[in-house]
Amino acid sequence: MRAVILVGGQGTRLRPITYDIPKALVPLRNHPFMGYMVDFLRSGGIDGAVLSLGYLPDPIQAYFSGRDDLDGFSVDYAVEDRALGTAGGIKNAQQYLDGGPLVVVNGDVLTGMDLTKAIERHRATDALATVTLTSVEDPTAYGLVEVDHEMLVHRFIEKPAYDDVTTNLINAGVYVMEPEVLDMIPAGREVSIEREIFPRLQAEGRLRAHVSSSYWRDIGTPRSYLAASHDVLSGAVGAGENFEYLDVDPSTRVGKNVKLLPPVSVAAGCDIEAGATIGGRSALGRGCRIGEGSVVEGSILLDGAEVEAGAVVRGSILGPRARAGQGAIVRGLSVLGAGCVIGEGNVLDQGVRVNPGVILPPRSLRF
Ligand code: GDD
Ligand code: MG
Repeated sequence: MRAVILVGGQGTRLRPITYDIPKALVPLRNHPFMGYMVDFLRSGGIDGAVLSLGYLPDPIQAYFSGRDDLDGFSVDYAVEDRALGTAGGIKNAQQYLDGGPLVVVNGDVLTGMDLTKAIERHRATDALATVTLTSVEDPTAYGLVEVDHEMLVHRFIEKPAYDDVTTNLINAGVYVMEPEVLDMIPAGREVSIEREIFPRLQAEGRLRAHVSSSYWRDIGTPRSYLAASHDVLSGAVGAGENFEYLDVDPSTRVGKNVKLLPPVSVAAGCDIEAGATIGGRSALGRGCRIGEGSVVEGSILLDGAEVEAGAVVRGSILGPRARAGQGAIVRGLSVLGAGCVIGEGNVLDQGVRVNPGVILPPRSLRF
């Protein structure tokens, strides 16, 4: 069975990171997200995927063509010239499918769910599509799904208002479907599976659900991306006994009295100066420079990011080559775009986002 992976969205909520890196490739523990997706699909017995691409397709194709360890897991690419939406993106992949049942996944879902169970459940019913469900605190950012005692879907409401919240069960973004569903999707225009196709299938009594209680997270916001990174670092996403909590590339230079508090992941070629602290649940990409006495805690630093002497980065994301100047404080889910420079002594907090390339003069911002 093959899968369609929907990775054509712009990743708006993860800007400014997604101006440079598509959401599908943001690293978790220094591995591009798509690697986790492929592992998930293979563990469910899926033997190939069609990547449904739109925004920044080239780096995603380059990632797959650069992988020589896919062992027969076939990959095709369906690229849209304009956004076709979540159903349009599936329709656009149809030419690469074999006419049998298929799996569809949102390309930003990190999960330890057992896909084989969802497929089995689907096969045991007359459903045209089976939606996997997971439970979340606040369903308003997702697709809320009401089911009856036989797991028949009674209501599917995408991004419900608070007043519509009747359950904590939401669409986990992993579907098993019959090829007939593809014929229900009009070609050549933007179509949403959540707003058009699922409500129709529900009305016809052909949409069923399968609930999973396994690990699940959509990585599409800074908060959830950071949380997913923390979870992967601490082995919460279905890791085995041999999980390595201190994952530091041997080519990294570590100065005197540096504290590396596990779990951390430090990629190749980093330079960590004397007295710096890399606090638990941080991930440093390739070639990061960490200055003397600085502190990085619970954060993600992408390739080439720099934290100068005495600066503090806490619970935040630094884009590729972004720099936190001497004594600067970057905390509280701040997100720095590629190559931006936070001058000496600035204090960033409360989820502030700095666009790529912006240069913030010394001591100009104090949250
Ligand atoms: N090919 C293609 N074309 N892919 C798209 C397009 C498009 O026009 N628009 C979005 N996608 C991809 C995104 O790249 C992402 O991987 C996936 O479809 C879902 O889009 P999101 O923008 O992340 O949707 P969401 O998170 O707000 O909501 C969806 O996911 C939730 C679970 O994470 C919905 O399916 C909800 O019902 C669901 O609960
Ligand atoms: Mg999403």
